[in-house]
Amino acid sequence: MNTPIAYINGRFLPLAQAHISPLDRGFLFADGIYEMTPAYHGRLFRLAEHLERLDNGLAALRLHAAMSRGDWDRLLNELVTRNGGGNLAVYLQVTRGAPAGRDHGFPPAATPPTVFAMASPLNPLPESVHQNGIAAITLEDIRWGACHIKSIALLANVLARQQALDQGAADAILIRNGYLTEGAASNLFLVCAGSLLTPPKDQRILPGITRDLILELAAANGIPYQEEDLPAERLETADEIWLTSSTREIVPVTRVDGRPVRTGAPGPLWQRMMALYQDYKRNSCPPTARQT
Ligand code: PDD
Repeated sequence: MNTPIAYINGRFLPLAQAHISPLDRGFLFADGIYEMTPAYHGRLFRLAEHLERLDNGLAALRLHAAMSRGDWDRLLNELVTRNGGGNLAVYLQVTRGAPAGRDHGFPPAATPPTVFAMASPLNPLPESVHQNGIAAITLEDIRWGACHIKSIALLANVLARQQALDQGAADAILIRNGYLTEGAASNLFLVCAGSLLTPPKDQRILPGITRDLILELAAANGIPYQEEDLPAERLETADEIWLTSSTREIVPVTRVDGRPVRTGAPGPLWQRMMALYQDYKRNSCPPTARQT
């Protein structure tokens, strides 16, 4: 990838030249939301689903960006093209703009939102993760009560991920009131007696696009699944544990708090779901796709 090209408030320009005001409400209050959409072979993957979640987030924040789904689609596709296509992680952030001063209340209605987007190379998971999985730790979920909104306020997620890294693990599995919620930047699946289990979509978790696709693939391929509250103890008896996200797809967790998950190796349902996921990706984003 050559010089990364970003988009900010109507202009495409080299990322290093993109600037915002220190009065931006994203900077001062984390008053904004974001999306991270993967592109494969220059094609944005599950874009309609990401844009629907974006619209839901904007509505939840009462933030009016004056952009239709078609406008977002064109913007992100142009960004992909300007960054040379290929496999990219496309980040989009919308904040409540940069009014003249700092005040918690909403700024004047005429204040334009700040719209920022960038694309970074999206690298496949290292082979070592396919072979060995990752280690995770469990942590209390100290986030706010509206985790279904893809808020840019990620401090608790940042601290959780770093605590995992500090302890030699790759990620954290979060627990609220005794129930599993999700990872620091991913959704959680357990495999128990051949069934796929994942917490239901409510305010405790982000409605992950990867999560939904996995459930779609399970339904289409006769893999039993349930969306249900999962007590934290289920981690100890699970046959497999996965963390899922748009950037890392499906990551097998093979150690939790220092104990191996079953054999301590990625399990058979993970391998099957990975194959289904890769097939689905190949069909939606074929290598011959045009670059827009
Ligand atoms: N994070 N839960 C949380 C808290 C997340 O931050 C993410 C994704 C997910 C998975 O959602 P999806 O499948 O739609 O990517 C679940 C992105 C990748 C990020 O913050 O960069």
